Amino acid sequence: MTGFVIAVDGPAASGKGTVSSMLGRLYDYPVLDTGLLYRAVGVAVQSAGGNLDDAEQAAKAAAALNLNDLEDPALRTREAGECASRVAVHGPVRQALLDFQRRFAAREPGAVIDGRDIGTVIAPDAPAKLFVTATPQVRAHRRWLQLHKQDAAITYDDVLADIRVRDERDSGRAASPLVRADDAVLLDTSEMTIDQAADAARRIVEAARGRWEQSQPG
Ligand code: C5P
Repeated sequence: MTGFVIAVDGPAASGKGTVSSMLGRLYDYPVLDTGLLYRAVGVAVQSAGGNLDDAEQAAKAAAALNLNDLEDPALRTREAGECASRVAVHGPVRQALLDFQRRFAAREPGAVIDGRDIGTVIAPDAPAKLFVTATPQVRAHRRWLQLHKQDAAITYDDVLADIRVRDERDSGRAASPLVRADDAVLLDTSEMTIDQAADAARRIVEAARGRWEQSQPG
């Protein structure tokens, strides 16, 4: 029997992180926020004075990362998000991070993984897939509420501009672009509170779990 993998994809600030943490608590599964992997690579390249647009340099940084240490608060900043999306376009970087993510997905009795390509590339056979989204305006407002605690000068318009650039880069890249898997359930959280989004996600995943349990031998 393979574990019950829950793949959660979506653009920045869609609510996928909140939904993933809730699902991890619900089933008592480990949760991997794969954005942190790309953030760690971007920050490593940047702090070594390297070039984020150089695939080879970035892939070396990815191969050298200690992927078990993703707690650094420096990974949560706006700059780290920008660095992440620049290194994430490189196929060799994605390749270097693939094994770690696949091994996480194979954990028993299950795991929650969130990112951009989980349902399409990392765990295409996941029995539960969610694609969490919201309008760019709603996402920018949510992200601004978080970021302006770190930096009072940051404006909503700055954040909206960042979100638009990132959406375009993540969806437009050739290597594993942000795209909804055919079998992922769309969850648009634009008009939802956090609790409503979490509740909707729980119902979708519980239904998938019922189907998955029935399909298991014995
Ligand atoms: O989710 P988060 O905002 O932390 O992701 C930062 C960036 O990392 C994204 O904008 C995206 O470019 C990249 N990423 C990715 N694939 C993933 C997770 C994140 O390309 N699975």
